[in-house]
Amino acid sequence: METMAYDVITIGSATRDTLLKSAAFKVMKSQSFATGKALAVELGSKIGVDEVFYGTGGAATNTAVTFARQGFRTALVARVGDDVLGRAVADEVEKEGVGVEWLLRDAGTPTGYSVILEHESGERTILAYRGANEKLRHEDIPWDDIPCAWMYLSSLSGDLGIAKAALESAGRCGTRVVWNPGGRDLALGFEALSPFLKKVNVFIVNQEEAAKLLGISYDDVNAVFKKFDEAIDGIAVMTQGPGGVYASDGKTLWKAGIFPEQAVRDRTGAGDAFGSGFTAGLMRANGDVALALRLGSANATSKVEHMGAKGGLLTRQEFDDDPRWRDFSIETIAL
Ligand SMILES: Nc1ncnc2c1ncn2[C@@H]1O[C@H](COP(=O)(O)OP(=O)(O)OP(=O)(O)O)[C@@H](O)[C@H]1O
Ligand SMILES: [Mg+2]
Repeated sequence: METMAYDVITIGSATRDTLLKSAAFKVMKSQSFATGKALAVELGSKIGVDEVFYGTGGAATNTAVTFARQGFRTALVARVGDDVLGRAVADEVEKEGVGVEWLLRDAGTPTGYSVILEHESGERTILAYRGANEKLRHEDIPWDDIPCAWMYLSSLSGDLGIAKAALESAGRCGTRVVWNPGGRDLALGFEALSPFLKKVNVFIVNQEEAAKLLGISYDDVNAVFKKFDEAIDGIAVMTQGPGGVYASDGKTLWKAGIFPEQAVRDRTGAGDAFGSGFTAGLMRANGDVALALRLGSANATSKVEHMGAKGGLLTRQEFDDDPRWRDFSIETIAL
């Protein structure tokens, strides 16, 4: 069989998600937790749930759905178990037109599964069983079969061999690599990531991840981008949740806020919506960071207004035709 041509391949995690929303979930201040806050329910009772939503998650599937809706030929690389949940993941992305020929099965480990406890405010706590995602290894990925395409890397479960192979593969055909690393990857530390940071075309982290990786406060934006610009030849992006986003290519620093949301229903997947929308913008017009910021931000705002990690992800037509997404104020600073 001849392999399909693809515009973009996403590599990372795939999960089955269940979202539970309840007015009984309380936010309590507590210094026992890193964020200073806990999501709490009464111990020893039965708690009513007001809303349930079954979907799929994991950055490889979330970002693949953005790309497919934006009109790009898309396939994903991820690992699920050989079980009902794994088939549900495959079904959901296939319905969106995403190629699943490199969705690997693991006979011995269940599909990753997340339960998302949703507070009325739209904030949430995720209980994540990583399952088969832990077993995504570069040596199991048939690199020679994967066609020339953009690569969107997310959590690599700490296997930098995947980043290396993706960069080599893209290098052979002159395409681009975007990386929005996961916790396991970031935990390897700045030194270990450096050789890859140098070569990726786009590197995306949120502000907490940037601060931890660089060992400095994210409030000092100039210092953050001084370090990123030294380490990264491509574009560095730091997202700040509802605070918006910064991007830099070492010559220009872009600063944008957000498209105001009508109501935050669920912020799960906002990071993936932004990163994939940003990348789709660059795929449409290479080097057009302003379009990338506008598409990433529109996709994230539309996402937080809907339930589930893929809810609200914009089609190309929705983005192009809705006047809501047309005007987006971006500040540029020459470096
Ligand atoms: N409540 C919100 N309303 C509108 N836009 C938002 C909101 N939250 C996030 N965004 C947009 O999404 C982008 C990414 O969000 P954020 O910085 O929270 O990513 P993240 O921490 O990686 O998210 P995730 O937890 O999904 O990985 C922001 O830069 C912003 O453009
Ligand atoms: Mg993130």
